[in-house]
Amino acid sequence: MGYVKNNISPWALLTGASSGIGRELAYLFAKDKINLVLSARNEKALNELAEELRRDFGIEVHVQAGDLSKLVEVERILTYLRENKLSIGYLVNNAGFGDYTRFDESDWNRQLDMIQLNITALTYLSRMLIGDMKSRESGMILNIASTAAYLPGPYMAVYFATKAYVLHFSEAIQQELLGTGVSVTTICPGPTESKFVDAAKASDSNLFKNRKMPSSKSVASYAFEKMMKRKGVKIHGWGNFIMANATRFIPRNFMAKIAEAIMRKR
Ligand SMILES: NC(=O)c1ccc[n+]([C@@H]2O[C@H](COP(=O)([O-])OP(=O)(O)OC[C@H]3O[C@@H](n4cnc5c(N)ncnc54)[C@H](OP(=O)(O)O)[C@@H]3O)[C@@H](O)[C@H]2O)c1
Repeated sequence: MGYVKNNISPWALLTGASSGIGRELAYLFAKDKINLVLSARNEKALNELAEELRRDFGIEVHVQAGDLSKLVEVERILTYLRENKLSIGYLVNNAGFGDYTRFDESDWNRQLDMIQLNITALTYLSRMLIGDMKSRESGMILNIASTAAYLPGPYMAVYFATKAYVLHFSEAIQQELLGTGVSVTTICPGPTESKFVDAAKASDSNLFKNRKMPSSKSVASYAFEKMMKRKGVKIHGWGNFIMANATRFIPRNFMAKIAEAIMRKR
């Protein structure tokens, strides 16, 4: 694809590769002849994808299925990488989910799993893999945040807050890593066609109902291109860009009221 790769190890660890944006990203790495370690819970979907990528693109693909909301599973993947001497040049923290619910009526275990997946797994993988990238003076991290990072999200309070964490955390380490050869790209998609809305039980919310959404493929292409160009924070789509930046000029208490109207069920 003509990108300068600066001797980056041609191995990518891609979380959330079984569907949606992650699955589409897998094809883009494969097209660029970058070998993959695919992770998500659905092992069957990962194995089928791996087979297709090996056959159609001639790359090496490893499958590491697991529930990444459990730190021990994240640890197991890191051990697997070490034992198989797979040095990761590209880390894609894409796995994530939301939960549409009033917080005071929410299932606590689901909120905890969300925090563990959207925040802890992303932070831990970054912490454990950046060292090697830094010593090789080459690496790329792609974190999938959301436009949800820019505002409070009534009825998806924990999810929106996890994405605010992803955005701020990623911006901070991107700054720390300047000049090391390791870049951190943060992509903020708006509502996107994938299994996300159903998984979050959010299809009746004003935000998603009867809305024409961009495909996972278009978001993945955008994210891949920005990562390869070592960009920082990027918001997908002009409407999302305007919305996200407009939140800066709206008083916080008023913003929460607007967000409540957007998130309410139709
Ligand atoms: N779709 C949107 O509207 C939207 C908007 C902004 C940001 N995003 C973000 O984009 C990212 C990708 O989501 P998507 O839209 O592509 O949705 P998706 O189709 O539901 O994909 C989510 C991926 O995460 C994996 N995952 C979920 N829970 C997991 C767990 N406990 N352990 C390991 N993997 C897990 C899923 O695989 P398994 O089920 O096989 O585990 C799947 O591969 C997420 O971080 C999401 O927050 C989505």
